[in-house]
Amino acid sequence: MLNYFLPPHIEFGDGAIQNLGEHVKAFDGKKPFLVSDAGVINAGILAKATDALEASGLSYATYSEIEPNPTDISVTQGVDVYKAETCDVVIAVGGGSVMDAAKAIRLLTTHTPPLEPYYADVGGIEQIRGDMPPLICVPTTAGTGSEVSQGSIITDTSLQTTDRWRKRAIVTPFNMSNIALLDPGITLGMPPALTAATGMDAITHGIEAYVATKYHPIAEGVALQALRMLSANIQQVYHKGEDVTARGEMLLGSCMAAFSFQKGLGAVHSLAHQLSTDAPIPHGVANAILLPPVMEFNFSHASEKYAEIARALGIDTSNMDIDEAGHAAIDKIRAYNTVLNMPTGLGEAGLDRGKIPKLGADAMLDHCHKFNPRVCREEDMVDLFEAAF
Ligand SMILES: [Fe+2]
Repeated sequence: MLNYFLPPHIEFGDGAIQNLGEHVKAFDGKKPFLVSDAGVINAGILAKATDALEASGLSYATYSEIEPNPTDISVTQGVDVYKAETCDVVIAVGGGSVMDAAKAIRLLTTHTPPLEPYYADVGGIEQIRGDMPPLICVPTTAGTGSEVSQGSIITDTSLQTTDRWRKRAIVTPFNMSNIALLDPGITLGMPPALTAATGMDAITHGIEAYVATKYHPIAEGVALQALRMLSANIQQVYHKGEDVTARGEMLLGSCMAAFSFQKGLGAVHSLAHQLSTDAPIPHGVANAILLPPVMEFNFSHASEKYAEIARALGIDTSNMDIDEAGHAAIDKIRAYNTVLNMPTGLGEAGLDRGKIPKLGADAMLDHCHKFNPRVCREEDMVDLFEAAF
């Protein structure tokens, strides 16, 4: 049996955030709960959201203590504020960390805490019901796509499999937002380094989803179109961040890439999830560095699909055979990393090489590699970290 979940409502356009209050009212919401972080406040973006709510005559509560790689602790604190303020709609205004935390907060407003029984690795999908308040996601970066994905990644501070905290996933169709409000105008001020990292995260989503093992032809088609849009615009937004048309293509492309990864992700994400809490290397940077060696590792199991990806990335493959075209896709990713000034390897990005054996073991615990086109063993994970070092 196959189940495909389409995002319910995507509103896309410059100025879309001004409609926020009307969307809250459409849910019969009286007091929305805004989840955000310091960066979004400092960029003046949260003020655009609160201005829109005030223009609609709505009062609201805010919780802006979300840190990068959000923890179960900040989720629990957010739930306490939501309940104390008697809110009825959750609005996430931020990047992936904010949206993931908002989803987990929303979950615990109606489900008994702690988060432990709801994590995917302990069968949490069976424990999660649909009786949750409406969720509106307003992404401020173009990369994570959490506004349409079924997952939240939370850093679990209670579980110490090694000597540190571990990222765990909550995955359920009920985790999808009710509305994804995509306003490219609020991403114009995103600095180039963040633009590059989040953009490469989105490209990684499209590539890993397209070659993932689940049968999902809808997602495959969307992944290729997402890659066309992302590859055509990523250098433009890096160099000319004020181009609202290119910003819009990136925002919609990242949303589409995230929709496509309900087909599955792959080894890049299982490896990258080990780095952001420990190294720390931002998720998109880790993906950008790990993507070429993982594509080489997968090549014998995915060359035809990599050749298709090469065409989506804008490469003329008419005079290439399948292997040449597939390798051209990998070369193109390396070229992006150079143009976007990514670190040349995980060592330069800040990873302590001595941690690789343990990180390799932890990567096996992550669910993403289960859909990788080539089976990964622990020694493969270690070799991939070394190849990316
Ligand atoms: Fe990602």
